[in-house]
Amino acid sequence: MGQSQNHQTHVESFLEEHRELMQHLSRVQQWCHESTEADTNRFEIFSTQLEDLRETLMEHFQEEEDGGYLSPALEVAPRFSRDAQELLQQHQEFLNRLDSLVNQLKSDQQGADVWSGVQAEFDEFLVNLRKHEGAENAIVQSAFGDDVGTGD
Ligand SMILES: [Fe+2]
Ligand SMILES: [Fe+2]
Repeated sequence: MGQSQNHQTHVESFLEEHRELMQHLSRVQQWCHESTEADTNRFEIFSTQLEDLRETLMEHFQEEEDGGYLSPALEVAPRFSRDAQELLQQHQEFLNRLDSLVNQLKSDQQGADVWSGVQAEFDEFLVNLRKHEGAENAIVQSAFGDDVGTGD
């Protein structure tokens, strides 16, 4: 009983952290799409936003790699181990993609074509990241869903 309540709390805080992360992503994406050439320093603003996002993501990834969501979920449902491992291995690639975007924004090529290229790449980045986060949610929910079934 106590055990399964712990798990419930764990699932809730994990999902809550993901919700906050998704809101952060949506805010940046919305800003990016609403900005126009009239925003003279949009390259600078966007690169700062992406650096902030990188910071947040790095902490989030670190937590997950240190066992944040992984160990309790895999304890009750070890069959997800390989999927979870594969997801963790995607983290560095996400950070690399952000670095590359920041570098493009900071270069002295700041034309409209560069902007739309970066914007398209960022949209694709977000599709992949949302997929990644969704897959993690699914693992945690199925793991603890299973556990709740046998808990008490
Ligand atoms: Fe992750
Ligand atoms: Fe995550």
